[in-house]
Amino acid sequence: MAKELLKTINVSKIIKSMQRRSVKSIQSQKNKKKITCLTASTSSIAKIIDQYVDIILVGDSLGTVIYGMQNTQSVTLEMMKVHGRAVFQSSKKAFTIIDMPYGTYKNKQQALINARKLLNYSKCQSVKLESDGSNVHIIRHLTNNKIKVVSHIGVTPQKYKDFNKIRSVGKNIDEKEKIFKLAKKLEKANSALIVLECIKASLAKKITTDLSIPTIGIGSSINCDGQVLVINDMLNTDITFKKPRFVKSYTKLGSIIEKSVKKYCVDVINKKFPLKKHTYL
Ligand code: KIV
Repeated sequence: MAKELLKTINVSKIIKSMQRRSVKSIQSQKNKKKITCLTASTSSIAKIIDQYVDIILVGDSLGTVIYGMQNTQSVTLEMMKVHGRAVFQSSKKAFTIIDMPYGTYKNKQQALINARKLLNYSKCQSVKLESDGSNVHIIRHLTNNKIKVVSHIGVTPQKYKDFNKIRSVGKNIDEKEKIFKLAKKLEKANSALIVLECIKASLAKKITTDLSIPTIGIGSSINCDGQVLVINDMLNTDITFKKPRFVKSYTKLGSIIEKSVKKYCVDVINKKFPLKKHTYL
């Protein structure tokens, strides 16, 4: 009877659904199913989003959303290592990408040493590097050394001290041509995926159609193969956050937390907490 039951269950399908996603499986989604990606930097968030997203990105945006920095330039390799490990250990299914922080991939040798440090410690599967075209040879060096690289083009936040100065790109012909050529070069350098940040819709479409690797957009229209958002932005965890146009708010977590904290304080002051049921008698 048990044997009969086992036969009807597709065991390989179940095992596959429990396995961690590989870069190949993400790439095979191109032109079939949109790719979903969100950032995570903590264990609790990783556990939740792992059930739904294809990719988890341990983004260096954690510098601003977790550590309250003005930009991402002060994020260190140590910070990324620790958060990356927490996220990887708390997820089972999603493909994992970790950002190489500012100043850690200035030349081929340094980039390889630091990429290995990040991946060996965190166990994440791939690193992400921002590129304005000047480091294609570095990305090529990493992929030649069996490091899976996700390239990030368009708006590259590590360049900015002041995020208010960030503007979308791909407005004029020269800029369009430059970004398109860069995307092609990065594909040739064996990038696994490419993040397009704040790139005009028509250019995002052209890149996505032309490249055989998937594009993951942030502020780059529906025309990309997938989408990524910083989770704190879409959940509105920061009540002072000035939302850019491309972020959709899914809830107001910051105000929900605020209301709960106010209630807690009122309870403590009015001796409504802890009650008998919260007490070891
Ligand atoms: O650091 C990050 O969260 C990112 C996303 C904005 C793509 O790079």
